Amino acid sequence: MRSHYCGDLDASHVGSEVQLVGWVHRRRDHGGVIFLDVRDRTGIVQVVYDPDTVESFATADRVRNEYVLAVTGRVRPRPAGTVNPEMKTGEIEVLGKTLEILNVSATPPFQLDEYSDAGEDVRLKYRYLDLRRPEMQHRLMMRSRIVSAVRRYLEEQGYCEFETPILTRATPEGARDYLVPSRTHAGHFFALPQSPQLFKQLLMMAGMDRYYQIARCFRDEDLRADRQPEFTQIDIEASFVTEADVMALVEGMLKSLFRSVLNVSLGDFPVMGYDEVMRRFGSDKPDLRNPLELTDVADLMRNVEFKVFSTPANDPAGRVVALRVPGAAKLSRKELDDYAGFVARYGAKGLAYIKVNDRAAGVAGLQSPILKFLPETVVAEVLERTGAQSADVVFFGADNGAVVNDAMGALRNQVAADLGLVGSGWAPLWVVDWPLFERGREGRLEPMHHPFTSPACSVEALRDDPFGARARAYDVVLNGYELGGGSIRIHSAEMQQALFDALSLGQEAQIKFGFLLDALKYGCPPHGGIALGVDRLVMLMVGANAIRDVIAFPKTQTAACPLTAAPSPVDEHQLRELHIRLR
Ligand code: AMO
Ligand code: AMP
Repeated sequence: MRSHYCGDLDASHVGSEVQLVGWVHRRRDHGGVIFLDVRDRTGIVQVVYDPDTVESFATADRVRNEYVLAVTGRVRPRPAGTVNPEMKTGEIEVLGKTLEILNVSATPPFQLDEYSDAGEDVRLKYRYLDLRRPEMQHRLMMRSRIVSAVRRYLEEQGYCEFETPILTRATPEGARDYLVPSRTHAGHFFALPQSPQLFKQLLMMAGMDRYYQIARCFRDEDLRADRQPEFTQIDIEASFVTEADVMALVEGMLKSLFRSVLNVSLGDFPVMGYDEVMRRFGSDKPDLRNPLELTDVADLMRNVEFKVFSTPANDPAGRVVALRVPGAAKLSRKELDDYAGFVARYGAKGLAYIKVNDRAAGVAGLQSPILKFLPETVVAEVLERTGAQSADVVFFGADNGAVVNDAMGALRNQVAADLGLVGSGWAPLWVVDWPLFERGREGRLEPMHHPFTSPACSVEALRDDPFGARARAYDVVLNGYELGGGSIRIHSAEMQQALFDALSLGQEAQIKFGFLLDALKYGCPPHGGIALGVDRLVMLMVGANAIRDVIAFPKTQTAACPLTAAPSPVDEHQLRELHIRLR
């Protein structure tokens, strides 16, 4: 039905007869001539009908936004002074000859031809219209290019794509499962996979050597801008590899991807230990484009009379940090107080600060509600250590380590964003040397990643001091987002059992993971892998603010789909077949 895509036309086509199809993006009647902006997936071209083509002109008069058209005409340069440098096709227009309306359209519930401030619910209910917007078309096309480039890269490296089940058993990745009732096994349920983790390990045990999958994962967890209940991973696993092999593969993949899709050369990724990133940034996924860093000052605060500082300074689990923010002295009292409200959301009990009006003037040049509690020598050492200058503010966080890291890590991000201190470009990072466990609720050990991650120590050392064990795990971070995480896995049944024991899983381990413990007995190769979030990767690469904007049909914040009205009630008969009675 067409000779060209709308967006592909340019000055090289002047004089050509073309057949176009597409949607009416905008229609303008300039007394005597009618301009139709015709849109398809590639872009928009201006088509002009003048009254000389009587029949077509009459048809053009009837069309409205979002009508579907078939157009023929001749490409010509735009008259001088009407060239639009903003448009890919802005140098030319098509002088329309024939015009056929292939379909009409009701008036759309929101405008597609300008920035849409329609609410998210309306946009999702009419997602097929929302996706017609050039911005959304671009994002989805980029997603397709990105995934295609990833596939190409991995296949070149000898990776093969294998599918893994969607109807399966629970895979623990720390979220709730989506359950599917079984009709043929009364009272039994499948779980949708939180990731293909166990199956990709089983594929290694099956000798497949190098696996990847563009895999859909399902997690019933609290949603945020970078979390959806179903999302996609670039899931990778390989046999006979070390951490360095997996990291080199992924770093190579991301470099090649950024080069081919964005024409950006990423430098070598820095590698930092977990302890270092927590100490310097209070976060395990720091945005390295942000120049702010935390400075430990507990050693200076042990003997001060200010209990807010001295108590955590003397507590082995406590932490006292200073955060120097260049140029923040211009913030008003109210703005500084608002930051105290901000850190309170992360559990901080307050936010002390020192305003440095004039560094050369000593204490007289400072302004702060806590100066009266701190000896001058301590204040001087804090300013020295943080490198504070005139016009800066030094914030303080004092509490147990976890609260300080959460609160001051978040403050670091927020203040830097507010003051425009975050640089542009790309800041990838590897975070390594993770603790194997963290303390969850009621002080119980919980795996920091998942329970199949290999400890960096022996079985005996793990049994002696599980909390001190480190993991052979690595995360890849990009611009402050956790893009992916992986590890070298446990490949011995004994070690896997020791890990389950450390988690006090007991009988539960046999019931849930007996098949894995069995499989480990039959010659399991050493193996490891990683998974990267496709949605997050695409979001960052196209500059979107939320992964919803790079998923064709995402869910709302409450995990629903306004378009199909899912989830929905089911009838009694269906429930009965599934052996379910609602309470
Ligand atoms: P993990 O749970 O860290 O690891 O997930 C890997 C990556 O998947 C993305 N991701 C999400 N994206 C959108 N919405 C979500 N709800 C969501 N949850 C996770 C993130 C994350 O870094 N099996 C392991 C990987 C491995 O060990 O190989 C796993 O799933 O970008
Ligand atoms: P107070 O003596 O409690 O009024 O606190 C004096 C100053 O210390 C105020 O600016 C508080 O915001 C701040 N402050 C209180 N608790 C903390 C804390 N845990 N960490 C950092 N600053 C705090």
